[in-house]
Amino acid sequence: MLRIVVLVSGGGTNLQAVIDAINSGKITDTEIVGVIASNPSAYAITRCNNAGIPSSVVYRKDFESAEARDKALIDAIDSYSPDLIVLAGFLTILPKTLIDKYPEKIMNIHPSLIPSFCGDGYYGLEVHRRALKRGVKVTGATVHFVDDGTDTGPVIIQKAVYTKPDDTPEVLQRRVMEEAEWQILPAAINAFAHNMIKKDSNGNFYIEE
Ligand code: GRF
Repeated sequence: MLRIVVLVSGGGTNLQAVIDAINSGKITDTEIVGVIASNPSAYAITRCNNAGIPSSVVYRKDFESAEARDKALIDAIDSYSPDLIVLAGFLTILPKTLIDKYPEKIMNIHPSLIPSFCGDGYYGLEVHRRALKRGVKVTGATVHFVDDGTDTGPVIIQKAVYTKPDDTPEVLQRRVMEEAEWQILPAAINAFAHNMIKKDSNGNFYIEE
């Protein structure tokens, strides 16, 4: 049984997609052993309560320094003994010690086709705002392993979504979530659980059919 910890900051719709995929059998042999939120008002916590999943909060304002918060975050994660850490809309930069401790065991979902519209400053609606401003006709979402850069880690799976004339950032965000994020994040977790994430001869990851 794969033990996953999910890190969240907001609404938690990606967390919900993972919960639903486990309940419906799209993800098998996997248990969400804990959810950690970066702020106490994250609606994702309510989703955990509804689903009977343990959750905790590691909130920057409760700590004297970023270092103290980082240590609490690492301790909270370690306490669950996870096999995989999933960042599902987690808006805090991870401490390097955590990344070094869990190589190729931390996944992030990003709402664009990396390397487009990613990196510092590209989060939430801003990603979609900039995609629309640039006038791209195709965008999408990416699940990648986390390294010590922002959205620079190796890509695992991507899914494309068409933009439409007159899209707003809100409308496009919703379509990217529905058509891409809520599908590829569960797919990546299930693939991880079954050792189906492989490396090709170029050293790139892919999901075995
Ligand atoms: C998603 O768009 C995700 O790709 C991004 O942050 C958003 C989180 O949404 N990293 P939710 O909290 O899962 O609803």
